[in-house]
Amino acid sequence: MTIKSPSPDAIAEAVDYLRQSNVIGLPTETVYGLAGNGLDEKAIQKIYEVKGRPSNNPLIFHVRDVDAAKELTQEWPETAALLTSHYWPGPMTIVLPVRSDLQSSALAGGRTIALRCPQHPVALELLRQLEFPIVAPSANRSGTLSPVSAEHVWDNFHDSIPLILDGGECRVGLESTVIDLTENQVRVLRPGILNEKHLRPLLEVSASNEEKVQSILKSPGLLSRHYAPSKPLRVIDDPGELDHFSMSVVYLSIGNDGIGIDLGKSPEQVASNLYRSLWEAQKMEVDMIVIDRPPLGEDWNVIRDRLRRAVENPESL
Ligand code: TXA
Ligand code: MG
Repeated sequence: MTIKSPSPDAIAEAVDYLRQSNVIGLPTETVYGLAGNGLDEKAIQKIYEVKGRPSNNPLIFHVRDVDAAKELTQEWPETAALLTSHYWPGPMTIVLPVRSDLQSSALAGGRTIALRCPQHPVALELLRQLEFPIVAPSANRSGTLSPVSAEHVWDNFHDSIPLILDGGECRVGLESTVIDLTENQVRVLRPGILNEKHLRPLLEVSASNEEKVQSILKSPGLLSRHYAPSKPLRVIDDPGELDHFSMSVVYLSIGNDGIGIDLGKSPEQVASNLYRSLWEAQKMEVDMIVIDRPPLGEDWNVIRDRLRRAVENPESL
C-alpha cells in the first residue's frame, strides 16, 4: 500500500525515497504536495512528468526555516524578514531573486524563486532530516482539484508514486498565498487565506494581479481555468434557483444551513471545506455541482479567486 501513517519508519522511508530522486505525496497545512529533491534534476523532471505540468510553470521550494531560504536567494530584503518572522511556518510563499549560481528547471527559466516554510509537523520533520529543499506542487494532475487528504493524492496518482504520507486532512484547505517581493511594490500573485488585511499592517501591498502571474508564465490564460472539479460547477445567488435546474445537482451551501452540503459561514471554514466537498460532489451520481456565491469583502477574495477558475459562469463572481 502506498499510503502510510507518518511513523518514524515511514518518515525514514520517505527520506530514502527523496534522496534517491523519487517523488512522494506529502501533507502540508494547505494542500498535499507532490514532493521531490529541489536540487535534483531527475526528481524535478519526474514531478513535471507525473503531474502533467507545463515546463514553463515554476515550482515552490519548501524549506525548514529562514536560514535555509536565505541559502537559495540572492538577497534577503527587510520585507522578507518581516513577513517570514510573522507568518512562517505557514501558508505563505514569497518570491525573491534566486541565488545567481543556482540553475534548476524547477525555476522554469526565470531568475526568481518561490519559497515556503510549511506549518505541518510531518513536512517540517522531513525537511529537518533532509540536507536539501523540497520542491512540491499540489499533488494533483495539472488542471484538476488540489488534494486535501492522502486518499485524494492516491486518486490522482495510484501506484505511479511509491509513497504517500498520511498527515490527515489539511487544516487550511487552499493553496498558499504567493507574494512577489522582487519589485518595489509588494504584490499578491495568488490570493490565499492570508490576505491583504494580514499583510497591510506590515507592508504596503497592491491587490492580487493575475496579469503579473501570466507574464511570468509567459503563457496567458494558462492559469485561468485551473482548480476545476470533473463535473460542471455553477454559482447561484439564491437556493430558490435549485428548483429550476432540469438536471440532477448537488448543492454546496455557504451559510444556508439545512440543505445541501454545508461549507460553513466564515471564509476559514469554507476554505477548509471547499476542496474536500468538491471531491465528494464530483464522485456523486449527479450532473452538476452548484454553489452559493460567496459574500463580498476581502476576506472572501481567496474563495472567489478559486471559484472563478473552476466555475462555468465566472462572470457572476
Ligand atoms: O500551498 C501551496 O503552495 C502548495 C503546497 C503543496 O505547498 N503548493 C502549490 O504549488 O500550490 P503549485 O505548484 O500547485 O502552485 C505554485 C504556484 C504556481 O501558480 C506557480 O506559477 C507559482 O506558484 N510560482 C512558483 N514559482 C514562482 C516564481 N518564481 N514566481 C512566481 N510564481 C511562482
Ligand atoms: Mg497547483
